[in-house]
Amino acid sequence: MKKIAILASGSGSNAENIIRYFQHHPSIQTDSVWSNKKEAFVLERAERLNIESHHFTRSDLNETEHLLLEFRNRKIDLIVLAGFLLLLPQKFVREFSVVNIHPALLPSYGGKGMFGEHVHNAVIANREKESGITIHLVDEIYDHGKILFQAKCLIDRLDTPEMLAGKIHELEMEHFPQAIEKFLLGSD
Ligand code: GRF
Repeated sequence: MKKIAILASGSGSNAENIIRYFQHHPSIQTDSVWSNKKEAFVLERAERLNIESHHFTRSDLNETEHLLLEFRNRKIDLIVLAGFLLLLPQKFVREFSVVNIHPALLPSYGGKGMFGEHVHNAVIANREKESGITIHLVDEIYDHGKILFQAKCLIDRLDTPEMLAGKIHELEMEHFPQAIEKFLLGSD
């Protein structure tokens, strides 16, 4: 059985979708959910779905071996960033495979500060004709690692950032779990 650990900072709709997708999967399971925000709704979602959930601080991530040890002891095969807003320290990305989802077509609209509504505001302000999602491996630079999968959506002339966010959300729900599955089972 391959094991994933999900790191998330916010609402956790992607985390929930991933957990549900792998709930009865023959060879992949969600081991646990981890958040740097104590009040993040993702922790509640995990609890409701009977998945172990944990809170950690920024210094747990940056200054101690504790989290690394946890992932090592749990034999995590893949760390999934699902709306996780901190940069993972080098030692994590060197030891573990890590995937992230970005709500735009990288390499455009990526980098520090480009998250959530900031991305969609910028895409709409530039009158782009399309946007989409990028699922990529994580390295030491924001939004930089190897691209595993992209899907596009069209932007209508009158679309607002909120409307674009809705289209992106649909793409995320449809594709993120499958991209994880393909990556872990090596059929990509
Ligand atoms: C998603 O749009 C994802 O692309 C981005 O952060 C958002 C997380 O949303 N990285 P949720 O917490 O999964 O609802």
